[in-house]
Amino acid sequence: MQTAWRVEVASSDANLRAGLADLWDSGRVESDQTFDVIYAGKPLSSRERAVWRVTAWDCHGRVTTSKPAFWEMALLSPDDWQAEWLAAEDADMRGDREAGLFWVTADAPAKDKSCQVRLVFDLEADAETTVLTISSTSYEARIDGSLIDLPPRPANAWGPRGVVETVRTLKAGTHVLTLSLKGEKPQCAMLVRARLRDGRVVRFDDLTARASSEKPEGWTRPDFDASAWPMVKRSEREDQPLPGKGAFLMRRDFTATETVAKARLYVTALGAYEAYINGKRVGDALLAPESMDFSKRILYRVFDVTKMVGRGANVIGAMVADGWYGSYTSPQGRFAFGNPPLRFMAQLELTYTGGGVERVVTDQSWMISASPVLNSDIYDGEDYDARREQPGWAAPGFQTDARWSPVAIAPPVTGKLQPTLSPPIRRMSLLKAKSLKAVNGSWIVDFGQNFAGFAKIRVKGIAGQKVTLKFAEILKSDGSIDQANLRAALATDTYVLKGDPAGEVWEPRFTYHGFRYVEISGLSNAPAPDDVVGVVIHSDTSRTGHLRIGHPIIQTLWQNSLWSQKSNFMGIPTDCPQRDERLGWMGDAHVFWDAAAFNMDVSTFTQRWMADVRDAQWPNGAFAFIAPNSMRDTAPNEASPGWADAGVILPWTTWQRYGDTEVINQNWEAMSAYIGYIAALSDDGIWSKGHGWDFGDWLALDSRWPGDHTTPPDLIGTAMWKHSTLAMLDMAKATKRQKAVEDYTRLAEKIDTAFAKAFIHSDATVGNGSQTGYILALRYNLVPPQLRAEVARKLHDSIVSRGRLLTTGFLGTPHSLDVLADHGYAALVYDLLLRTEYPSWGYMVMKGATTTWERWNGDAGDISMNSFNHYALGAVIGFVYRRIAGIDPIEPGFRRFRFNPVLDRRVASGGAQYDAVSGRISTDWTLNPEGQFRLKLSVPPNTRAEVHLPATNRTDIRENGKALASQSLGIVNGRMVIEAGPGDYDFAVRA
Ligand code: BGC
Repeated sequence: MQTAWRVEVASSDANLRAGLADLWDSGRVESDQTFDVIYAGKPLSSRERAVWRVTAWDCHGRVTTSKPAFWEMALLSPDDWQAEWLAAEDADMRGDREAGLFWVTADAPAKDKSCQVRLVFDLEADAETTVLTISSTSYEARIDGSLIDLPPRPANAWGPRGVVETVRTLKAGTHVLTLSLKGEKPQCAMLVRARLRDGRVVRFDDLTARASSEKPEGWTRPDFDASAWPMVKRSEREDQPLPGKGAFLMRRDFTATETVAKARLYVTALGAYEAYINGKRVGDALLAPESMDFSKRILYRVFDVTKMVGRGANVIGAMVADGWYGSYTSPQGRFAFGNPPLRFMAQLELTYTGGGVERVVTDQSWMISASPVLNSDIYDGEDYDARREQPGWAAPGFQTDARWSPVAIAPPVTGKLQPTLSPPIRRMSLLKAKSLKAVNGSWIVDFGQNFAGFAKIRVKGIAGQKVTLKFAEILKSDGSIDQANLRAALATDTYVLKGDPAGEVWEPRFTYHGFRYVEISGLSNAPAPDDVVGVVIHSDTSRTGHLRIGHPIIQTLWQNSLWSQKSNFMGIPTDCPQRDERLGWMGDAHVFWDAAAFNMDVSTFTQRWMADVRDAQWPNGAFAFIAPNSMRDTAPNEASPGWADAGVILPWTTWQRYGDTEVINQNWEAMSAYIGYIAALSDDGIWSKGHGWDFGDWLALDSRWPGDHTTPPDLIGTAMWKHSTLAMLDMAKATKRQKAVEDYTRLAEKIDTAFAKAFIHSDATVGNGSQTGYILALRYNLVPPQLRAEVARKLHDSIVSRGRLLTTGFLGTPHSLDVLADHGYAALVYDLLLRTEYPSWGYMVMKGATTTWERWNGDAGDISMNSFNHYALGAVIGFVYRRIAGIDPIEPGFRRFRFNPVLDRRVASGGAQYDAVSGRISTDWTLNPEGQFRLKLSVPPNTRAEVHLPATNRTDIRENGKALASQSLGIVNGRMVIEAGPGDYDFAVRA
């Protein structure tokens, strides 16, 4: 164990080596603290590098000094930025954007609930005419009477249809664009852009249109006389973003006049970017910057590009696509968090060996061109035409031609630039095709695993040949792919070949899909198995946990939950990776974080998302149910119980797991405001008001619709309030906020009293007797001590009487096993875990699930909300780590943990490996049929384990083959508790 520490921080390697800690020298501090030490040296400025090391003294008098490490400060002030935002758009897009797409309404009330709108326009010459239309209701559009093909949109699509673009070649003369709008109070918008033969572009907007509720004969013809129709009126609705055009290339030549000693690239986009220097990709982040409320914050990254820049001629370039900023985001549509255009910003800082500094920044000297990416959208996929590649475009020596034009500076933005501290999305692994079958003239590839990412293909063919890839989680009975559960997400990539005789390899850059199967069409030959590779991508949060449970159902359940975590860690924690949703649903994260923080190191990932959660918080203190909040215009400014609570529970979990109290401080104000919001509405100690959209125990078994109140909403609300209050109390204590400790103690008591009065009946029934009611009441300590056993028995009886199954949804399920285990129902814990009939986790496993389903009945559930890759129901994996593998944290940062597994003869072995901040914890137990128990345990430095062994007699326990040497703390619940310090142990317990 450690007895003292010292941190030394220097401004250079040389200084540190010479023992000159010129930034901070903590001196020797007598303490066993091994983390949560805050830098307390000289204030650091932008770009400053700090080199540091730690020395530790232990109880045996040994001294250890770490190797030097460093950190570098980002750009701390807006004044550090000289770069400007470049607009990633072409002249047509700019013209359209500046002209605007005006929403109009008809004056006359629609008689038969329909309304006819006419926009007449005159062309002085033949013209290629682009028509842009949108309506708030369904509509039919015609040009000179000829019908425009509107792309179909599934009935269960989430959010409005976007602007539709149609191109027609029209002759000189008078033309009319007509819209026939259906439904109540329809509004529409139209814009016509015509490129005349001489190259001039003219635009006609709908402010000159006329509308009528009549539908007279011939009204769609240009020569129809509509002069009696009233003019349309401009409506209040905001501008609507126009369709995208895929990605743009941007570039600039520059010269490094001296030898470069150091180069840094500070870079970001409103959209997604790939940066290039001298033809090489900078870094390997995918889809950067990831989803956030860009109107508030824009995260940039910093790259050390010293090795990429040389003296002499250089080129910096970027490919900029829609990304999260410009793609459709449900239910808001495109540009949900800011206005067009897509933008790019970069600042390359060169420090020469002579000490001089030169900056190459995004400014008017850059050039822009269309790219081979013709369309890119997160939900829909990417279209790529390899014939449009411009080899060498980002390398020196490239001559720009007519395809390139000077870039325009974009309008200013409101979001504040901030450095990204969390890991990027990366390609994490590759999957081979498990099978390749010809079905209905296409090829169906099965990767054997549901995941998020895309497919990389190798194809050979002629220039112009188009290969189409469609992605799906499930198959139809004929073996073809089934995209019905993706709703409006097209999940389709297309690749147009350039015709390279050597073959072509392609993967998309600016989209991802949630899938197991790909349908490939348009190939000339049957693909070989390695012509299609599954590329798994996710936020590169490092793996910290590995479970090994000696039962295939539990082991597979864990694997599936891990895959669902991977698939949904995409910059932010999403609900699902496949359908037209993929949003930061807070309820899902709230319940899953216990498991998530075992599987992976989520420390910076949580901090990053908590900034989004704070950005989405309503001014009254209510946390939203989704962050970033793409429903801020439609959702009430209230807090959904169990969803909003993520705002408190994520910081709490993160502090508990990593011991870092900074996460508490960063969020304290926001979290207190949230509890304040509830308290202000809940004088009587029951949270019944201001639930906003109350999702209840979402998807509970007995629900008729997902958010059905199978458990009383006030019961859930009040239990969640208590849950968050307890977490606040813990965090107040940890950060020595005395007043808050007193306040939250009183509040918790008040909630307890009110809850017992309102929901606990004299016969120990809680609420309406739902399982979730019992689970939440027990889990959050809302039941008076004398009733606990009886309440738990009622829960047990309910589960048994239903046929040993859970009826719980998103909020009750995660805690079900903890509550049963706490009250001595170990056998029932295993009955539920090992159950394979519907409903159960095992049912999903037996049905071949490779990720966790959204619904207990994913195989039969309503297809319009049926994801096969949702982690909420897999939250129980937290329990498996803590109470089957036996790595149960007692003190923040695992300084102390408990090994006290729930045992059952049906499972012969268990354990896990977990990389805690102090080092690797490992448990590995076996239980043989005779009841002999054995545990191999590793306890890392500065950590203590409280080991509960199934024995009551010291002599029944052997430690490392000898008599028990460790100190016993006594017998608890029939198990001997042993205190184990750092080291490796092998305990054997006689049957
Ligand atoms: C999401 C959920 C989410 C829920 C809340 C669903 O559409 O996929 O996981 O928590 O909505 O209503």
